Amino acid sequence: MCVEGVQYFFFRFLLSPSLCFSSSFVSSFLSVEEPGSKVCSAWQASDFLSREQQIKDWSRRKEEVRNYRCSGEIMTTLIHRGRRADVGGNAEKRAEGEEDSVLDKGVGDEDSGDSKDIRLTLMEEVLLLGLKDKEGYTSFWNDCISSGLRGGILIELAMRGRIQLEPQTMRKKRLLDRKVLLKSDAPAGDVLLDETLRHLKATEPPETVQTWIELLTGETWNPFKLQYQLRNVRERIAKNLVEKGILTTEKQNFLLFDMTTHPVTNTTEKQRLVKKLQESVLDRWVNDPHRMDRRTLALLVLAHASDVLENIFASLDDEKYDVAINRSKDLLDRDPEVEAAKASGAEMIWAVLAAFNKS
Ligand SMILES: *[C@@H]1O[C@H](CO)[C@@H](O)[C@H](O)[C@H]1NC(C)=O
Ligand SMILES: *[C@@H]1O[C@H](CO)[C@@H](O)[C@H](O)[C@H]1NC(C)=O
Repeated sequence: MCVEGVQYFFFRFLLSPSLCFSSSFVSSFLSVEEPGSKVCSAWQASDFLSREQQIKDWSRRKEEVRNYRCSGEIMTTLIHRGRRADVGGNAEKRAEGEEDSVLDKGVGDEDSGDSKDIRLTLMEEVLLLGLKDKEGYTSFWNDCISSGLRGGILIELAMRGRIQLEPQTMRKKRLLDRKVLLKSDAPAGDVLLDETLRHLKATEPPETVQTWIELLTGETWNPFKLQYQLRNVRERIAKNLVEKGILTTEKQNFLLFDMTTHPVTNTTEKQRLVKKLQESVLDRWVNDPHRMDRRTLALLVLAHASDVLENIFASLDDEKYDVAINRSKDLLDRDPEVEAAKASGAEMIWAVLAAFNKS
């Protein structure tokens, strides 16, 4: 498995259009942030193909890949997936007696505050979904998760009543034209959220959702704005999950270097999460985003943006998988402008979706 890892590593990075080889990469996979290399969808597809197919496909893709951006093509990838998903069949061994309290919460306001019920932040949930349980790192092919996690930070801050979109005006009607305004800078008790709040507070004039996702990811040509990049995001989120007893920390030797990995040590929370999301598009499907639990809706949007939706549905049988994919596609294909206008409480979720659709 180590050898495979190294092969993936070289395959992934030597062929990567950005050829970015940061020193932090060597110390920890999780900490890799790859500014400017959003080429996810084509690469992600390779995750589900055999090695031979990957190599065959690669030369054809090489050129396409340079032009790929996050999102957009992801659903196509999902629908044409090979059945070789390596997510470890979690949901088969579903824990019993799980409560659905969080699921039924609800359709309230975005300002539901720092509820004690929120065991994990959206960023922690997205990373947990993206991690391979045993290996403890995210797919090497996934270039979307970095910006997806930044989107998660913005939604989490909005849900906690810290930020909001500026009100609609005649000139600024569209979600992506409206700036992100600070509502309260009260600490949220999470390092990444609080660091982002400080950046938001320091920025005058305010910026849009799309610009913030780019700034926080470090995708900017403006050297004065590089300071807004959040660093070591994956590693810091993983550390939180280690503290919460969900992940553990290991050093893995990959022949050329040591790598810090974070295998899942207690699968209860991940199983609960996967089950909640599966149910939201199967048994509990309401075909109306406004009647969905906000955090569930946010998580589906973020899983899509981070290209980890596949991990949620991989354990389903083929028939249910198709239904789940169709319904997710239906949800994510909706027009964010139209949906946001129907209920103001979920504006940030739809703005983040709009930003990913556009990028
Ligand atoms: C795993 O986590 C759940 C709560 O998320 C907890 O109830 C359970 O006791 C934990 N299991 C172990 C073996 O620590
Ligand atoms: C999913 O959508 C496709 C295309 O719209 C359709 O052909 C197929 O029957 C759908 N499958 C299910 C299970 O709904």
